[in-house]
Amino acid sequence: MSVPSVTLCDNVKMPVLGYGTWQAKDDELEQAVEAALEAGYRHIDTAHVYENEKVIGKVLSKWFSSGKLKRQDIFLVTKLPPGGNRPESVPKYLKRSLELLQVEYVDLYLVHVPFGFKDVEGDLHPRTPEGLIDMDTETDHVALWKAMEAQVDAGLTKAIGISNFNKNQIEKILENARIPPCNLQVELHAYLQQKDLVEFCKKNKIVVTAYSPLGSPGLAKFMAQFGRTIDLPDILNNPVVQTIATKHKKTEAQIVLRHAIQKDIVVIPKSTNPKRLRENISIFDFRLDDSEMKQLNDLDQGLRILNFMIFQGIQNHPEYPFKAEIGKL
Ligand SMILES: NC(=O)c1ccc[n+]([C@@H]2O[C@H](COP(=O)([O-])OP(=O)(O)OC[C@H]3O[C@@H](n4cnc5c(N)ncnc54)[C@H](OP(=O)(O)O)[C@@H]3O)[C@@H](O)[C@H]2O)c1
Repeated sequence: MSVPSVTLCDNVKMPVLGYGTWQAKDDELEQAVEAALEAGYRHIDTAHVYENEKVIGKVLSKWFSSGKLKRQDIFLVTKLPPGGNRPESVPKYLKRSLELLQVEYVDLYLVHVPFGFKDVEGDLHPRTPEGLIDMDTETDHVALWKAMEAQVDAGLTKAIGISNFNKNQIEKILENARIPPCNLQVELHAYLQQKDLVEFCKKNKIVVTAYSPLGSPGLAKFMAQFGRTIDLPDILNNPVVQTIATKHKKTEAQIVLRHAIQKDIVVIPKSTNPKRLRENISIFDFRLDDSEMKQLNDLDQGLRILNFMIFQGIQNHPEYPFKAEIGKL
């Protein structure tokens, strides 16, 4: 299956469907990345905090050395961890990611979140307020962005972008950037369509990538590890989605992914199941009509699933991006 690409603002081509890898580790992920490459995925989304860059690097290096793929065939995305949200930490963390991924450059490097944590060696996931969340120092996005731009200058990433930033935070970067961000990765699915933010990004030539495009159905199991319960919406069992799926002889997952793609939004569904990951990439042989697009557009409820509250006290961080929604979260 061949996936069309979109041009990012600096002439870098990005496949509009990528392979998400959060919550997938080690042996399971190794086999899944193999299956994803076999299925035709050429865009892989990871992050330093996913702690799976090494496995992805292992599979990619096998494919590169066997000649099955060249480095330039793959669009590789990774992200600066929150503990690295200060200028001096950016080169250190990008270098670590490159070593683990066994590549000389990534295609897109994203600032993972707008809030910064203290840089604690050996702890990428500070979950308690005691000292780990950098509450006192407002993360300086302008200085941070200059360090991101320096990584493009050094040839260590082709493009730079942000993730989980709100409109005000993006505006501040745009006003001060020499190399503007060309990608925003945010939670986006049928129940959280982020219409204003998407419109703002279009105006500013920022390509939007939808994370959790299926509504992250595996999240409840993941949260249970931390003793948390989460009330997850079941987007794939929504009757509107089901009816459209039946009509097109497609699955519900294929319908919601296609809906985002037709709105020029890049999607990065995660699956470690070979059948499902093949299903998720098979969405370029049909089209939703205007009425179906409208019915799916109307499912928007502004319902955010990932609010980072797993980090205790995060809503008090000066750069917490969803402050305006706090009453609703
Ligand atoms: N920037 C950020 O802060 C951020 C945050 C979250 C996610 N992300 C990125 O976005 C990617 C996707 O988001 P996500 O992992 O949260 O959620 P998602 O892609 O919406 O959903 C993944 C879940 O859906 C299941 N699934 C996959 N395909 C399916 C299908 N065809 N039918 C039914 N179930 C299916 C998967 O299970 P199986 O694996 O068992 O198939 C998994 O439990 C992540 O992997 C990560 O790369 C980024």
